[in-house]
Amino acid sequence: MTTENLYLEGEEKFGPVTSFLFGLSSVVLNKYYDAIVEDLRGKKFGSLLDLGCGRGNLLIKLAGELQTPSFYGLDPSPYMLKSAQKNLTKKGLTSRLKVKIGSSRVIPFDEKFDAIISSFSYHHWKDRDSSIATIASHLSDDGFISIYEHEVGRDRISKSHGIKESDWEHLEVEGLKKTVTHNNGLIILTLTR
Ligand SMILES: C[S@@+](CC[C@H](N)C(=O)[O-])C[C@H]1O[C@@H](n2cnc3c(N)ncnc32)[C@H](O)[C@@H]1O
Repeated sequence: MTTENLYLEGEEKFGPVTSFLFGLSSVVLNKYYDAIVEDLRGKKFGSLLDLGCGRGNLLIKLAGELQTPSFYGLDPSPYMLKSAQKNLTKKGLTSRLKVKIGSSRVIPFDEKFDAIISSFSYHHWKDRDSSIATIASHLSDDGFISIYEHEVGRDRISKSHGIKESDWEHLEVEGLKKTVTHNNGLIILTLTR
């Protein structure tokens, strides 16, 4: 796995220590992962890409709950991906779920995706608007993008790591319709054709 730095200056790098600490604390995200699975359950897609998939926690949950044949994940952190790969192997999911090093700017898959999602990663991105444009070019004809974040203001984590509706007010992506929804502490940006 390459160790090339795919983070932009100013983006938090998930090195060995941060990745390990995230692993210890990520259990608090379980209730949000459940809400994301429910949000996606009603939608139709044959392939899904998770941007900033970290240790693969959400992907593993999705693969267990949904019939979707192909799941993909990418992350700029080789340390997060090493844990993701270990977890996928342990669960016997490596034929259905592939992870690669990449970023919101560098998407190293040839295929287009029906669903492109991201959880608790977008707030780290330093070039959010141009990343969204890059991501949109990897969507299939009927595809959609869903970005899941903590909504600002409900607790300590959401104050420092949250997104508010006004952060997306200016966002326009040619050919895609934007909606912003709220669900028990999550704020969700969805872009559909
Ligand atoms: C808080 S973790 C969330 C991991 C995972 N999505 C989850 O919900 O468990 C944030 C992740 O976003 C990744 N990340 C940071 N900047 C990124 C970027 N520009 N593009 C893609 N991923 C990025 C980090 O390496 C890290 O793994």
